This record gives sequence, structure tokens and C-alpha cells, in this order.
Amino acid sequence: MNPSKHLLIKTINHEKVDRTPIWIMRQAGRYLPEYIRTKNKAGGFMGLIRNPELACEVTMQPLARYPLDSAILFSDILVVADMFEMNLRFEDKVGPIFDNPLRTESDLRALPNELDVSKLSYVNETIKNIKTELKDSLPLIGFIGSPWTVATYLVEGNSTKKFTHIKSMMTANQNLLEKILQMVTKGSIDYVNEQIKHGVDALMIFDTWGGLLSKDEYYNFSIKYIENIISSTNSSHVPIIYYSRSKSNFDMLKNMGIDCVGISSENNLGDIYQSLDKKIAVQGNFNPDILREDKSLIKKEVIRTLESFPYESGHVFNLGSGITPDIDPDKVSFLVEQVREISSK
Ligand code: CP3
Repeated sequence: MNPSKHLLIKTINHEKVDRTPIWIMRQAGRYLPEYIRTKNKAGGFMGLIRNPELACEVTMQPLARYPLDSAILFSDILVVADMFEMNLRFEDKVGPIFDNPLRTESDLRALPNELDVSKLSYVNETIKNIKTELKDSLPLIGFIGSPWTVATYLVEGNSTKKFTHIKSMMTANQNLLEKILQMVTKGSIDYVNEQIKHGVDALMIFDTWGGLLSKDEYYNFSIKYIENIISSTNSSHVPIIYYSRSKSNFDMLKNMGIDCVGISSENNLGDIYQSLDKKIAVQGNFNPDILREDKSLIKKEVIRTLESFPYESGHVFNLGSGITPDIDPDKVSFLVEQVREISSK
């Protein structure tokens, strides 16, 4: 990996650092009134992510408020569906919806034979705009969803937490599921290469629903495809952060080619770090619900989280899952301040 001046990248590379870097999952989002205003101006969430000027504007919003250590591209893991010509829409309080989910061979046959990554060129424009705004003052994280996690939405058609259709496809029509996973993998390889070409400084792979799978299934339906993406992209100079909402089962991450693992709130940072032979940096874990509590408790939890990682470098402070719309932006300000102050002592 190339040397970097950025604290985030240095930490992921286990270089000596003066303090723990921090950024926030979903840092540009509904808890910020300025985000809501820009989203309304864009005519909704999809309008916002497809508008490179406004998507850049909301990417920069949390950075104007807080001294965070990274920007993250404002987009969504599901935009990859543009390459499959599947119409993605979002409904308030419902989330993502595909009106024609993939359930049968003929659903799959109806999709284009050739995947055209230029359908996602609006993302490249957003990246260019953000890079111009940042002037290399901070790194920019690009991202994709894991093929498995994206497939849960393509097959279910929405955010159901039951996963009925994909689970039955796993047993009743494994061949179809594999074809879907291969298609998403193929599209993701092109899409990652575009993000890297346009200048993202790190890449995060969201395998949010990897934890639904048993150990063997986890390798066969999720990890295997991610390994394929990592080994097929020009990503050797770009650190890769892998995120899963699952509880441990992280053994197979050792040889996957990732540099950092993002973990949810059930896990312990130091334990996961040790179990990965202290070679893969760790990120996340702070429970977003704590941001609803008063400042003394937030401070206590910041101290506890920092103490759970008693090593010099290799910890990126973050939440265990995305910040929720009900959080008071002042609490985030306090969190960032505390992490900067306490970790530099
Ligand atoms: O973190 C960031 O600031 C970058 C932008 C980002 C979004 N989604 C914007 C978003 C990122 C990295 C994602 C990832 C994503 N999207 C994941 C993986 C991470 C995770 O949360 O586990 C998943 C599963 C999705 C799919 C998705 N997008 C769902 C299920 C929903 C609805 C539920 C929800 O959390 O709001 C979204 C909507 C979404 N993606 C919003 C934002 C800011 C809210 C949309 C709005 O403003 O109306």
C-alpha cells in the first residue's frame, strides 16, 4: 500500500498515530436538518444520489459540522441495480423497493446480458466533485455492498427482515442464487474499478446480512464472492474495510485480503483484533443507541471503547451500525470531541 498522510489510512496500516481517527456510519443522513433540506430540494433520496452536485453537498455537510477523519461517498449499496436495469425506489419509513424482484430463472433472463457500468457514471461525477471539495484534506471512502447482501434485496424486493425468499432459494434453487451472486459480483468488479479510478482512498464492503448464514454458507454464499471482487480489482493500493453486522465467525476473514474489519456493537474490539492475529485493523462497535443518553454516559462509553483496544494503532472509532434519524447533532459533536481528546492522552 502507498504511504498516506491521512490518519485513517495510517491507522489501518498500523502506522504510529497521535490519536484514534473517527468517522460515523451514515454521517450524512436524516439526523442533520441540512440533509433533509437538500434531500427535499433533490425530490427525494434517489434524486439526491443521482445528482452529483447535491450528493457532493450532503457528503460535505457532516464535515462542516464536525472534525471527522474521513468523508464517505454519499450513495447507496443498491445503486448497483442500475446495471441490471432493475428499478430501485425508496419509500419513507419502508426503505428500498424493487417492484420486480428476482425469484425465477425467467426473472433473471429478462435482465440485460451485458452489464454496462456507465449506467453508474453519476457516481463517478460525485466522486470527482467530492475530491475537488476535499482538496486531499481528508480521505474519501467509496463502497459497495457484498453480493450476498445486495442479493437479499434483489430477491426479497424490499427490506423485510424475514428473508423468506432468499432462504428458500438457497435450498430449493441454489443454482439460480449462484447465478444472481455471480451477476452482482461481475457488476461490482467493474463498479469498484470505476470508484478507484476516480479517486476513492479506501473501499468499504458492506456485508450487513452475512450474519444470517451458517459457517459453511457464509463462505459459499458471501465470502467467496467478496474474495473474487478483491482479487479481480485494481485495489492493491486502496485499503479495504469489510463490515458485517454478525457476531464473530470472523476466522475466514484472515486470508481474504482485507485491511480492516468493521464490527457491530455485540463484539469486543480487542477480542476480534486478537482473533485476527492483530494483523487486521478494527473499526466500529460503539452502540449508536448510546447517543440518546446524556453526555456523562457517552463519555464513559467512549472511555470503555477506547480501553477495549489497548494497542498503539489499528483502531478506527466508529459506530457499530448507522446513526439513526432521532439523534441530536450536538451529541455527535460531543462524541467526536471526546474521542479526539481522550485518545490523544
Ligand atoms: O454512511 C454514509 O453516510 C454513506 C451513505 C450510505 C447510505 N447507505 C445512505 C443511505 C451507505 C454507506 C449506505 C449503505 C447501505 N445501504 C447498507 C449497508 C450498511 C447498513 O446500514 O447496514 C444497506 C443495507 C443499505 C440499503 C438501505 N439504504 C436500506 C435498507 C435503507 C432504508 C433503511 C435506512 O437505514 O434508512 C437505505 C436508505 C438510506 N441509505 C438512507 C441513507 C442516508 C436514508 C434514506 C433517506 O434519507 O430517506
